[in-house]
Amino acid sequence: MTVSNATALDEATVESAVADALAAIDAAATGAELKAARIAHTGESSPLARLNARIRELAPADKPAAGKLMGAARGRVTAALAARETELERTEQAARLEAERVDVTAAAVRRLPGARHPLTLVREQVEDVFVAMGWEIVEGPELEHEWFNFDALNIDPDHPARSPQDTLFVEPEGAHLVLRTQTSPVQVRSLLERGAPLYVLGPGRVYRTDEIDATHLPVFNQFEGLAVDRGLTMANLRGTLEHLARLLFGDAARIRLRPNFFPFTEPSAEMDVWHPTAKGGARWIEWGGCGMVHPNVLRAAGVDPDEFQGFAFGLGIERTLQFAEGLTDMRDMIEGDVRFARQWGLTGR
Ligand code: PHE
Repeated sequence: MTVSNATALDEATVESAVADALAAIDAAATGAELKAARIAHTGESSPLARLNARIRELAPADKPAAGKLMGAARGRVTAALAARETELERTEQAARLEAERVDVTAAAVRRLPGARHPLTLVREQVEDVFVAMGWEIVEGPELEHEWFNFDALNIDPDHPARSPQDTLFVEPEGAHLVLRTQTSPVQVRSLLERGAPLYVLGPGRVYRTDEIDATHLPVFNQFEGLAVDRGLTMANLRGTLEHLARLLFGDAARIRLRPNFFPFTEPSAEMDVWHPTAKGGARWIEWGGCGMVHPNVLRAAGVDPDEFQGFAFGLGIERTLQFAEGLTDMRDMIEGDVRFARQWGLTGR
């Protein structure tokens, strides 16, 4: 509704302006819309304000009635604005509360702590045993030259271990690179780097073309132990390994050596451990290979076999964990499911 100067200040005109204002107030759905309605219908240039301004022009006798009419009209609009404002505040607050609703009975999202892998724990436990005896921890490359993995270890060119059925050869052909099949090349590398006497433990990953099953992994870990000094004998080998067995499996643990063959040791033995607390009862368990370092290996590493003797051993870390904990399937060790590792937590076995 527009109010021109010609419009009469009568009841119908005022009523119509009020009706427009009330409709706009009623239609306002937000605080901002209500503010716009307030300006349009009560502001300085609103129809009601302009009608009110016209009271001045009236004859003195008409002014009281017109003033009363306008006062009542503006009062209704003001009251409607206030009522609508309260109403909008209430609905807006209700919407806000609904949006911010928190279900205090819902289950919390839990972040479970991780755990160190039991293979790491076994490795560190064994490392600690040897470091305590004054041995050093050494490492070698996983991508190894055939000479270190085989030739220097007295493994001749047509030994079956060198066939592609057992060994992963790495391209380019003729580069003589393999993924090391054992940690024994670390023996030769350590001797060449450090010379004799020497006491080292070399833990690390090795690769074979084995099919994966409950007791075989194509990628697994070994410890290589090597001691080279004057006058070392098989008795030193025995004592060292029995010490390790006792620290890992308790005072009642023992080892026994059975004759075997490795090209890089002479004599060679298979070592069994008597595991007194094995799941299913105390028993002998095959643990690894060992022997006195072959003179050809010492020579390849620049050590005089007439002056120095050595003993060496190789143990599988997965295998050690498997029988130490009575685990039936090695595949659990490599699946990366934290529920497996969490059984040992952060601190150890
Ligand atoms: N390298 C041998 C293997 O992987 C183990 C071994 C190490 C045997 C040292 C004798 C001496 O089976």
